[in-house]
Amino acid sequence: MDKISSYVAVIVLTALLTGALVAFLLNIRERKEESKYRNVNVAQLNEEITDPAVWGHNFPREYDGYKKTSISTHTNYGGSEGISKLDTDPRLKTIFAGYAFSVAYNPRRGHYYSLIDQKETLRTKKFKQVGSCLQCHAGGLRNIYEKAGHGDMMAGFEKVCAMPLKDAWQYAQHPVACVDCHDPKTMDLRVTRPAFLIGIKKLKEKEGLKDYDPNTMASRQEMRTFVCAQCHVTYYCGSKEKLFYPWGNGIKVEQIEDFYDNFKFKDDHRFYDWKHEITGAEVIKAKHPEFEMWSQGVHSKSGVACADCHMPYMREGATKITDHYIRSPLLNVSRACLQCHHFTEEEMLGRVKTIQDINRKLLDRAEDALVALINKLAEAKKGKIPEEELIPIYEFQRKAQWRIDFVNAENSMGFHAPQEAARILGEAIDYARQGEVQAEGLLAKHPVN
Ligand code: HEC
Ligand code: HEC
Ligand code: HEC
Ligand code: HEC
Ligand code: HEC
Repeated sequence: MDKISSYVAVIVLTALLTGALVAFLLNIRERKEESKYRNVNVAQLNEEITDPAVWGHNFPREYDGYKKTSISTHTNYGGSEGISKLDTDPRLKTIFAGYAFSVAYNPRRGHYYSLIDQKETLRTKKFKQVGSCLQCHAGGLRNIYEKAGHGDMMAGFEKVCAMPLKDAWQYAQHPVACVDCHDPKTMDLRVTRPAFLIGIKKLKEKEGLKDYDPNTMASRQEMRTFVCAQCHVTYYCGSKEKLFYPWGNGIKVEQIEDFYDNFKFKDDHRFYDWKHEITGAEVIKAKHPEFEMWSQGVHSKSGVACADCHMPYMREGATKITDHYIRSPLLNVSRACLQCHHFTEEEMLGRVKTIQDINRKLLDRAEDALVALINKLAEAKKGKIPEEELIPIYEFQRKAQWRIDFVNAENSMGFHAPQEAARILGEAIDYARQGEVQAEGLLAKHPVN
């Protein structure tokens, strides 16, 4: 190559590089603009706008994710496909004998179905339920309560809770909605469920913090858990009192049990959810204590929030958005887990499988032990054993039932707090077998024939 042509080559190359650089910079600017203006305020959002589709005009990407919660999914123990729990585990029919859960009990589905499934279940078709049930299944409840209470949310809450559920449904149009977790003016995270606001205040008071209000006092990371904890918790839903969360003594399994043991309801009697049809024991039922269980695990202690795993960040062009397709993180390990854990997807799935398989095996043993206790009690009741001698054995059933249910109704099959779940199941097996041994002793003392 002569000197001139190499000059030309350098010039051409420089021009090309400059062009590419300019194009690159322009592209970045465009994308920055795009991310700045992507939330075109098409709709003026406010408290009255509860329909997620309207919010979707302003935030199409988040809305796209939200809509995907209608998809059916499947993992070893989770996902959102509805094979009845009573068919996959017939022991539950004995364990819940005499209670609505022995008639219908399905695995959860996605948020898209939260209102539909409540209307479809035989637990509301065959049994009378109270308006309290609505709190976690319908969207835009703050607005509903404010209207029902003529501007006073708490008054409206009490009013709707006391209605028959069928009447309360008239107020509800949407499933879990954007406005439940976001302030429509600022889009900041917020919690809207009255029972949560009251429950968390009690819990913090016990920890020495007065007048706690998560909406003004919680950190952003805490809010990334609280928005879920407003619904994914165990609750009291009787006909006398309005809905509440039993957290006055704390949120560990025995602290909640202790609360219920000291809680008086009808005719000043100690609280129970139902009288067991076979044994007559007064027993209590746990409902999806995800927040309570997560609180005892290493992720909680390390500050990892529900949203970190169930709503991880994802890239959309130059923007980082929060994945609003809330689902099992096992369908999404690379974004849900590998943001923190530097192992392969297979390795992470393997770790979860080990934890969940162990938990399932322990749970099987615990359910077997409880069914054995129930059967032994049924046998004992056929004989002439004085009722007061059976009372201590009913206590064993109550304790074992509560603990087994706390792990079984929790939806992570032990993952959210593996050691805590194992501890609880260990206690449950012990209580059930102690009860069985005592019943056996009584049977020897008072033979049936
Ligand atoms: C460290 C990650 C992580 C955190 C933090 C976490 N979870 Fe989970 N969660 C999981 C995994 C893993 C499962 C098991 C999913 C499966 O079996 O398919 C699960 C299961 C669930 C399920 C059942 C999902 C299904 O498809 O069956 C629900 C509901 C749930 N978690 C809610 C919560 C809530 C509420 C919080 C916060 C209080 C929380 N999780 C915190 C990882 C996490
Ligand atoms: C504190 C919030 C809360 C209240 C109150 C509540 N639910 Fe739910 N419900 C949930 C959550 C969270 C799930 C999903 C997790 C699960 O299924 O374990 C769920 C799941 C369900 C399901 C689908 C799974 C199944 O069990 O078949 C039905 C049906 C249901 N609830 C009915 C009711 C009825 C009836 C009431 C009133 C007695 C009620 N809920 C009150 C939060 C609540
Ligand atoms: C169950 C609670 C929940 C619901 C329901 C919900 N979001 Fe979010 N949203 C979150 C969380 C958690 C974040 C992360 C916020 C943070 O970390 O500051 C978020 C973030 C956002 C952001 C900020 C940008 C981003 O993607 O991180 C927008 C915009 C948003 N959501 C829109 C919506 C819209 C629109 C809907 C309804 C279609 C909706 N959200 C429903 C919990 C929720
Ligand atoms: C207003 C109450 C409410 C809030 C807030 C809420 N959930 Fe739910 N969630 C429900 C109900 C009710 C269901 C069960 C719907 C059904 O079975 O029809 C459910 C179902 C789920 C499922 C099962 C779906 C699947 O595909 O496995 C997961 C996972 C879940 N929620 C996680 C979360 C997380 C994480 C948050 C917070 C970011 C959250 N939820 C906030 C009420 C709520
Ligand atoms: C935001 C960060 C973060 C995310 C997201 C996260 N983890 Fe973790 N994980 C941690 C930390 C921190 C620990 C504590 C151990 C440590 O200090 O190394 C931990 C511990 C664990 C452990 C051992 C403790 C135990 O409970 O037995 C397992 C297993 C685990 N994580 C699995 C997962 C899986 C599966 C996911 C995704 C569904 C996930 N993690 C998501 C940060 C995270």
